[in-house]
Amino acid sequence: MAEPILEVRGLVKHYPLTRGVLFKKQVGAVKAVDGVDFTLDRGETLGIVGESGCGKSTVAKMLVGLERPTSGAIRYKGEDVTRLSGRALRAVRRNIQMVFQDPYTSLNPRMTVGDIIGEPFDIHPEAAPKGDRRRKVRELLDVVGLNPEYVNRYPHQFSGGQRQRIGIARGLALRPEIIVADEPVSALDVSVQAQVVNLMERLQNEFDLSYVFIAHDLSIVRHISDRVGVMYLGRIVETGRDAEIYDHPTHPYTQALLSAVPVPDPEAREHRERIILHGDVPSPTNIPSGCRFRTRCWKARERCALEVPALAVPEAFRRATGPAAHPSACHFAEEKHVVPSGRPE
Ligand SMILES: Nc1ncnc2c1ncn2[C@@H]1O[C@H](COP(=O)(O)OP(=O)(O)OP(=O)(O)O)[C@@H](O)[C@H]1O
Ligand code: SF4
Ligand SMILES: [Mg+2]
Repeated sequence: MAEPILEVRGLVKHYPLTRGVLFKKQVGAVKAVDGVDFTLDRGETLGIVGESGCGKSTVAKMLVGLERPTSGAIRYKGEDVTRLSGRALRAVRRNIQMVFQDPYTSLNPRMTVGDIIGEPFDIHPEAAPKGDRRRKVRELLDVVGLNPEYVNRYPHQFSGGQRQRIGIARGLALRPEIIVADEPVSALDVSVQAQVVNLMERLQNEFDLSYVFIAHDLSIVRHISDRVGVMYLGRIVETGRDAEIYDHPTHPYTQALLSAVPVPDPEAREHRERIILHGDVPSPTNIPSGCRFRTRCWKARERCALEVPALAVPEAFRRATGPAAHPSACHFAEEKHVVPSGRPE
């Protein structure tokens, strides 16, 4: 099998909690990301979903080098990026770019679109000789479906969807191999979301891109993802191919999330079971013992408080080859069909 383009092992980000002004003393930690593993193959899209605060953006920031991991490895083509520095690190960083959530705040309002898209060339001048930048920027505008004549306009002259196209053009400027998109359509109108997702799919084929696509909306992630990882309180609790996760979820948390996805067919809607999760997500400064989901899980038993469930194919499915046999961090994993009509739209 080909080597994955990205391999993440035991990724951890703990933010220290300190007390005192002069003599700062660490009194705890915000365990934003607490042991995440995944692989990304060339040309594939891995969707990462989970409720607000579960650590998705922190993972994204570590992948593109905006945050340093507390521990763990991020291997790009087999090389651990977290151990690189200087020129070697810069060369790798060029290949892993980010598209941000909010096109309203992530674009500098005082810069022209041309300067915004060309900004990465300031950090990596080798990617475009000075005299060639303007042409490259116009080409990028065209690639994302915007008029190259707009190059001197400012962000406020564009709609939300157009602004996200500008953000994507900037992400593409250095011709990266991997794009980490952190909720790229969450801030957009529903009618525009599909256009931006379609654009990203087209660009993926055109430029042979691999995507890590982060969202809290399960239906959007399904549309674009080949595989999905479901995060809860800093960890991935279930992962598999999209049909495995959507049609054969075995982790109670995934089942609860899926039961809340809107179903367009009214009859199917009537027959589906909504799983209401009680209580709030615990604080990442105080993660429950054993299974971190147990305080909200309707199936929790004594073992759940004592033993941390590993993210692996559960015992019950180990001999099976069907779609339920995928990694799920639950001691009592079992199938539960929560989306009766199949695909959510
Ligand atoms: N710099 C920081 N210092 C301390 N805690 C932080 C910091 N950045 C994030 N956190 C905390 O880490 C946890 C994970 O945050 P993160 O932004 O990664 O979540 P998220 O899944 O992206 O959420 P959302 O869906 O709201 O974007 C949260 O509890 C957040 O408050
Ligand atoms: S291990 Fe226990 S608490 Fe955790 S998801 Fe499974 S049944 Fe629920
Ligand atoms: Mg986030």
